[in-house]
Amino acid sequence: MFEHIGPFFRWWSSETIAVVTGANRGIGFEIAHQLALHGLTVVLTSRATAVGEEAKKVLQEGGLNVAFHQLDIDDIESIKSFADWIKETYGGLDILVNNAGVNFNVGNDNSVEFAEKVIKTNYYSTKNVTQALIPLMRPSASGSRIVNVSSRLGRLNGKRNKLGDIELREQLGNVDTLTEELIDKMVDSFVQQVKDGTWQSGGWPEVSTDYSLSKLAVNAYTRFLAKTLSDRPEGSKIYINCYCPGFVKTAMTGWAGHTSPEDGADTAVWLALIPDLSVSGKFFAERREVNF
Ligand SMILES: NC(=O)c1ccc[n+]([C@@H]2O[C@H](COP(=O)([O-])OP(=O)(O)OC[C@H]3O[C@@H](n4cnc5c(N)ncnc54)[C@H](OP(=O)(O)O)[C@@H]3O)[C@@H](O)[C@H]2O)c1
Repeated sequence: MFEHIGPFFRWWSSETIAVVTGANRGIGFEIAHQLALHGLTVVLTSRATAVGEEAKKVLQEGGLNVAFHQLDIDDIESIKSFADWIKETYGGLDILVNNAGVNFNVGNDNSVEFAEKVIKTNYYSTKNVTQALIPLMRPSASGSRIVNVSSRLGRLNGKRNKLGDIELREQLGNVDTLTEELIDKMVDSFVQQVKDGTWQSGGWPEVSTDYSLSKLAVNAYTRFLAKTLSDRPEGSKIYINCYCPGFVKTAMTGWAGHTSPEDGADTAVWLALIPDLSVSGKFFAERREVNF
């Protein structure tokens, strides 16, 4: 785990509120841990209350300033209750880390059995949380921040695992033609093809197809939202970026991978705390900007 953010201006304080989704374990737990070590107030959320309370206790026992609230990102009512609670308790939030996600492909499997669920949780639910919490992001001179935990598997222009539809790829890759409807239409069409049994000839990413497409959608949505948020006035800026944590030893990979959850969390924490306010709508890996 990195010990310091760098020679940065420390714009945050113990009054800065950072919310992390899916933080009961894995990379999310480590993001919550490291943000708390930097002295922020962290709201650790998880869909199951008992494990979330337990994770909070572990961090509190380390002397850290951590609160817990239930949040199942797939459940609109849960999102609404969480938003009401954060507004009432803190008057809003400053940092949102969208970490919660699912993947049912382990290793080289490529099952689309859970495609609808994967697209829903990783893309639509992430979007729902983001849309519910943006109005609660507190004005600040440093700007609020959203970090989406995504994956290299969802890159538009990676060497492998590309979308076969060149026109769609170009539309998604051009911020002027990129729309939320375009992204929704793409994932909906994939889910429909899975239902029809025609997805294999659809030109979708070849590795972990449903998961890769869900993260491609998250990446595209990050860019789209950065564009729509870019005209907010000084003092109410919101910066949004996404990143790949690497191949991380967590339950999701069956504890395979070569990166620890601590290192996997590093770029999220760096993006959440970076004082350079010009950074928005970008994709990162190991603290470096990478092409989408
Ligand atoms: N591990 C990797 O190599 C890797 C690589 C690239 C990207 N990522 C991304 O990193 C993020 C964290 O994954 P991880 O590796 O730490 O896996 P993990 O240990 O399986 O953690 C996933 C977390 O998401 C939570 N979650 C799933 N559905 C949820 C829902 N509906 N509402 C709230 N929370 C929900 C899980 O909660 P439960 O405990 O209740 O299931 C768990 O806390 C994911 O977005 C993943 O796609 C991971």
